[in-house]
Amino acid sequence: MPTLAVYPGSFDPLTNGHVDIITRGARLFDGIIVAILVNPEKSPLFTLSERVELARAVFKGLPNVEIDTFEGLLVDYVARRKAQVLVRGLRAVSDFEYEFQMALMNQRLNDRIDTVFMMPAEQYTYTSSRLIKEVVSLGGRIHGLVPEIVEERLRSKVRTARTEG
Ligand code: PNS
Repeated sequence: MPTLAVYPGSFDPLTNGHVDIITRGARLFDGIIVAILVNPEKSPLFTLSERVELARAVFKGLPNVEIDTFEGLLVDYVARRKAQVLVRGLRAVSDFEYEFQMALMNQRLNDRIDTVFMMPAEQYTYTSSRLIKEVVSLGGRIHGLVPEIVEERLRSKVRTARTEG
């Protein structure tokens, strides 16, 4: 039976750390679904459809990578998609506690789904969507940390915010 993985997250925005994990996952599993969380309470920088569009553009060359959205319990989505594996990236020890709690809670909710942790390449161990947004908004350089298409969109968002503000 083919092994299908789900890689969930907010991806606001997609970083090269995410891209690295997804590319590794696409080599390891028969298919990997990038599942973007629909979270109406948070106010993301990129709308859900922008995040989907950007991820689709970045992975258009990898046929076993699918971009989808989900809401509600993650394990229910994984079961609905008939996937067996949840992929999460681990960058540093600081990620561990939160990830460990989520993995065990998800295991308790559905014991047939296993979480697999993957390490991104070393140069991305300090990359996070939150820091990228902060650095860009303050005029800092993020070249090489996000896909080029994401970098262009981030810059135009900052320009729009400046002219509006
Ligand atoms: O972008 P993030 O913060 O790394 O992603 C967190 C995410 C989307 C994996 C997590 O918030 C999640 O699974 N949300 C769906 C709701 C759910 O199932 N919660 C229980 C998790 S134990």
